[in-house]
Amino acid sequence: MIDLRSDTVTQPTEAMRLAMSRAEVGDDVYGDDPTVNSLQDMAAEMFGFESALFTASGTQANLLALMAHCERGDEYLCGQQAHNYKFEGGGAAVLGSIQPQPLTNQLDGTIALADIEAAIKPDDIHFARTRLLSLENTIGGKVLPQTYLANAQALAFQRGLKIHLDGARVANAAVAQGIGIADIAGHFD
Ligand SMILES: Cc1ncc(COP(=O)(O)O)c(C=O)c1O
Repeated sequence: MIDLRSDTVTQPTEAMRLAMSRAEVGDDVYGDDPTVNSLQDMAAEMFGFESALFTASGTQANLLALMAHCERGDEYLCGQQAHNYKFEGGGAAVLGSIQPQPLTNQLDGTIALADIEAAIKPDDIHFARTRLLSLENTIGGKVLPQTYLANAQALAFQRGLKIHLDGARVANAAVAQGIGIADIAGHFD
């Protein structure tokens, strides 16, 4: 039987379990774990970034990114359906004192650029400081078009925002379009 409830219900194969049990390990604090180091190097290369950081979960990765980009009292713009808004226990607010500003996801998964523009708060003590646009690709099984990413990145740049990708399924988005992961990740900070 193939369980189609979610891609998260998959189980590791025997070969994967064997690779894990035989992996060379070391002290990660000293940067001595060769397996983690090589995984991070591989990820950096694949995504086209200077470096990468292994995290124990996607939730942790999102939280680290949100807290790296935003300070206490800042806000991030994201989709109503975004995992890092809806399904992560409000972690950015709980642990980072960062306010989410959720916006409607259109049927194709995008957030209308006009909605993003309209949600950016003026520089005024009444408001949280809008610092970050957070997108998810794929979202709800939909691939965000590359032209949309380029336009969203340009808008973020013009308005002085950072732009984050929840790339839990970025490999799916790359395969679906026949492009590299770096071609997608290049639109993000
Ligand atoms: C889009 C998206 N982001 C983040 C996560 C969180 O990943 P994790 O379950 O490893 O914390 C998930 C989990 O399914 C996800 O679907």
